[in-house]
Amino acid sequence: MTRKTLVVGNWKMHGSKEQVAAYFSELQKAIQNSSDKLLNEVVVCPPFIYLAQAAKLLEQLPQVKLGAQDVSGFTQGAYTGQIAASMLVDIGCQYVIVGHSERRQYCQESEEEIADKFFAAKATGLTPILCVGETQAQREEKRTESVVLGQLQAILTRQGVQSFQDAIIAYEPVWAIGTGLTASPQEAQAVHLLLRQTLAEYDVGLAQRLPILYGGSVKSSNAQQLFAMPDIDGALVGGASLQASEFFAISKV
Ligand code: PGA
Repeated sequence: MTRKTLVVGNWKMHGSKEQVAAYFSELQKAIQNSSDKLLNEVVVCPPFIYLAQAAKLLEQLPQVKLGAQDVSGFTQGAYTGQIAASMLVDIGCQYVIVGHSERRQYCQESEEEIADKFFAAKATGLTPILCVGETQAQREEKRTESVVLGQLQAILTRQGVQSFQDAIIAYEPVWAIGTGLTASPQEAQAVHLLLRQTLAEYDVGLAQRLPILYGGSVKSSNAQQLFAMPDIDGALVGGASLQASEFFAISKV
C-alpha cells in the first residue's frame, strides 16, 4: 500500500508581504535547481491575510499547494472576524489545519467546535488536517492513548469512519511543539500505529490510505528518521518551515 506523503508548513503568526514574496521566490529556485524529488505534496499555510498573495505567486510553482491555518465552523453569516471554508476555496486553498494545539489552548476550542470546522472544510472539498496530541502532563500520566483517541473519537462520533476519507491526521505531541524536543521515531510511530489501527477497526482500506503526519520540532536533521517509520507519512512543520531552504530540505524524499 503506497500512501500519499506530505510536508505541510505552518507559518503560524509570522510573515510580511515582503517575506512572502522572498520565500516563494527562494522556494521556486530551490525546487527548480534541484534534481531531488519532492514528497507527493508540499503545502504551505501562511496567515490568512497573505493567502491571496501566496496563491498568486504559486501560479508559477504548481508543485506547492496552499493551506490555511484555521477555518470557521459556520458556512457564512454574522461571525465577525471568521473565515468560511468556501472563502478559502475561493482564494485557492486546498488544505486547512484544524484543532491545532495552540488554538485548543489559546482560543479554548472545544472538540465540538473542532469537529464543526473539520466538517465545514470537508463540505467545501478542502482537505482538513486534524491535529491531535497530548501535553507533557498527560504523557507523564500515561494518558497519551486516551487523549489522542478521544480527539479522534470527537470526529468519528459525528459521521463515522468515512469522516476520514480525504482527510489527514497530524499527530503533534504538545510538548514537542516549538520546544526543540521531538518524539523519537519509535514513540511517534507507536501513536501513529494506534491511530491507524483504531480506524482500521472500522475500515481497513481507509485506514491504510490515510496520511498521518508527525509534528513537533521537525527539521531537516531529524525528518528522514521520522519519515522512515512505517506509519509516518510526512510532517506538519512550524518553525523550520519559515526558511524556504530548510523547508525545501525537509520536503525532499
Ligand atoms: P514546530 O511546530 O515545528 O515549530 O514545533 C509544529 C506545529 O505546531 O505544527
